[in-house]
Amino acid sequence: MSALDVAATSRRADAATVVRPARRLRGELRLPGDKSISHRALLLAALAAGESEILGAGDGADVRTTAALIARLGVGLERRAVDGRNVDYRVRSPGVDGLEEPDGVLDCGNSGTSLRLLAGILAGLPVYAVLDGDDSLRRRPVARIIEPLRSMGAQLHARRNDSLPPLTVIGRTPLEPISWTTPVPSAQVKSAILLAGLRAAGTTTVREAVATRDHTERMLRARGVAVRRSEAGTADAPTAVGWSIEGGARVKPTTERVPGDVSAAAFWLVAAAIHPDAELVLRGVGVNPTRRAVIDLLRRMGARIEERPADEATPGQATAADLGGPVGEPTADLTARSSELRAIELSPADVAAAIDEIPILCLAATQAVGTTRIRGAGELRHKESDRIAGIAAGLGRLGADLEVEGDDIIIRGPTRLAGAVTDSLDDHRLAMTFAVAGLVARGETTVERSACAAISYPGFFDEIERVRA
Ligand code: S3P
Repeated sequence: MSALDVAATSRRADAATVVRPARRLRGELRLPGDKSISHRALLLAALAAGESEILGAGDGADVRTTAALIARLGVGLERRAVDGRNVDYRVRSPGVDGLEEPDGVLDCGNSGTSLRLLAGILAGLPVYAVLDGDDSLRRRPVARIIEPLRSMGAQLHARRNDSLPPLTVIGRTPLEPISWTTPVPSAQVKSAILLAGLRAAGTTTVREAVATRDHTERMLRARGVAVRRSEAGTADAPTAVGWSIEGGARVKPTTERVPGDVSAAAFWLVAAAIHPDAELVLRGVGVNPTRRAVIDLLRRMGARIEERPADEATPGQATAADLGGPVGEPTADLTARSSELRAIELSPADVAAAIDEIPILCLAATQAVGTTRIRGAGELRHKESDRIAGIAAGLGRLGADLEVEGDDIIIRGPTRLAGAVTDSLDDHRLAMTFAVAGLVARGETTVERSACAAISYPGFFDEIERVRA
């Protein structure tokens, strides 16, 4: 092996990472704990009087942010068994009625989930709170939570005519129950309303045109709170569903094991599928039906992904059917191999179901035979960066044949990618997408501002080194 190969992935002081092509990809990986589930486990532990345990939470910067935020509300946290990727938390909370008013601005960093879900909790507490974040978070929309939480009786204000953080919340107890239809499918908005609904005098219902990730619903049930699902289909939105919660329900403390993050697994599934000599085994990946779309979309594209069910991740103590629906999180071991990919068409519902995986699916599409059309991807403009612009710029630099038409992304393949300088725009999912591209592109691929991968996947670049040959 030459000196060049030893330093196949090298980092520079300015946090750019150079990725060289891999001859082979082999290995077994364990993913960080699911980010969405880790946030919720911490927030629900803050609402539950007593001691909760969270095993295998993701230890990326976003989940750490949520841990720091609940500590500011007077919740005790102990970090145990840390391995650089995951952490076990022991959380001691006085319960929702004992939470303290924060004594200064709550810094949500880069994390939209922390800001939006916590706003839902604070809306139902007798507190004044200011939620702020980094430059990226200050560009992300908050009107979508201000409107429903205001209709419940909380006072919320934000910059630029109530559209952008910082966000002020003056909460109140009890709130008024509402029946709300989300204008764009969003699990964060749904969750903020359901969490506020716990503090309302009556039944709160949220309707969404397509079902988004249902972790909040499953995890509330696991903690003894009924969340009922109803079919809410209309001629315009035949797949619409409703979720209802009773105000005043008590969240019980529990012990929960967090499954591996399927959104992190997606990078390896695509890496294996587009590399000519690859076999990667991913252990204990969460395959919740509302999160697994990326696996099924890749299979539709012809990816060879084998799935063996693993144990159900521990759901906590409650499993009663009368809590309204599923409680635990199914997990599986996945094996992904080199594949011949073909183009597919993604509908707006596919986009909603794989919202965080669209960047890496775009990379897969560059290696698929035919024209992939991703329809109705406009929400990607409101993520950690404008992901449509970021993907178009980065994959374009690498030689992809990609076009943006309104809210649609059109990719013609296959193209032989050639190493180039790409910019993550400080967006973790773009940094990891361009790094995976570097494993198959000719020559060197530079990922500028690559350190942000640790937002959701600490150790990602070390794993690239470990699985390559
Ligand atoms: C998340 C929901 C999604 C997703 C985000 C995590 C969650 O956001 O993009 O990474 O944990 O609820 P939206 O609800 O804004 O679509």
